[in-house]
Amino acid sequence: MKLTFHGHACFEIEHYGKHILIDPWFKGNPQAKTDYRNLQVDLILLTHGHDDHFGDTIEIAQKCKALIVAPTELAYYCSRFNLATHAMYFGGTFHFGFGSVKMVQALHGSSIMKNGTSEYMGNPCGYLLMLNDRIIYHAGDTALFGDMKLLGETYKIDVALLPIGDNYTMGIEEAVKAVEMLKPKVVIPMHYNTFPTITQNVDDFVNYIEKLHYCQGIRLNPGDNWEL
Ligand code: NI
Ligand code: MN
Repeated sequence: MKLTFHGHACFEIEHYGKHILIDPWFKGNPQAKTDYRNLQVDLILLTHGHDDHFGDTIEIAQKCKALIVAPTELAYYCSRFNLATHAMYFGGTFHFGFGSVKMVQALHGSSIMKNGTSEYMGNPCGYLLMLNDRIIYHAGDTALFGDMKLLGETYKIDVALLPIGDNYTMGIEEAVKAVEMLKPKVVIPMHYNTFPTITQNVDDFVNYIEKLHYCQGIRLNPGDNWEL
């Protein structure tokens, strides 16, 4: 299984020849190193409607004929573009053939701006991807919430992808608390340094994680990939 970081909150997972893309923001993403027009994508997972996550979903889904998985309201929005969609909500798991996807809560907002007004897209979410015996948690944009403890108790999370940028999401201190509750084997920080408002010293986060012993903090630069 290969995990590629495309910058900000965008990750690509390759598993048995299937390509899963989460929050595909490339155009206008100052961190993106990849030309998204060359990607082969089977499944797009969306955590919420904000620009820096919804990104190039429509264009990529049209070109690759990819299936879009999203919270119901956002899935309905995507289906206006004649795209294949799969609506889910919190607590639901669906088996997609190559693995299962579980939608979980995130503490944030979800909207799409059109002509200066916000169109609301329901609730934002996070995902647990269960691929063979591996579990990857993409938290989406979220504040720290107490039920992360429940996720940690219920699932043996191998890799947690957590926002650390602060301002819109948890910052470093809260992300460390999240790791204490989720107990993943590996944590990869995301959603930092893209904009001036989310500037963070990522080494501080990795150093805090090192002290926990049971978890390894891995810093991926945009374009980097990692085998698990
Ligand atoms: Ni957001
Ligand atoms: Mn965001």
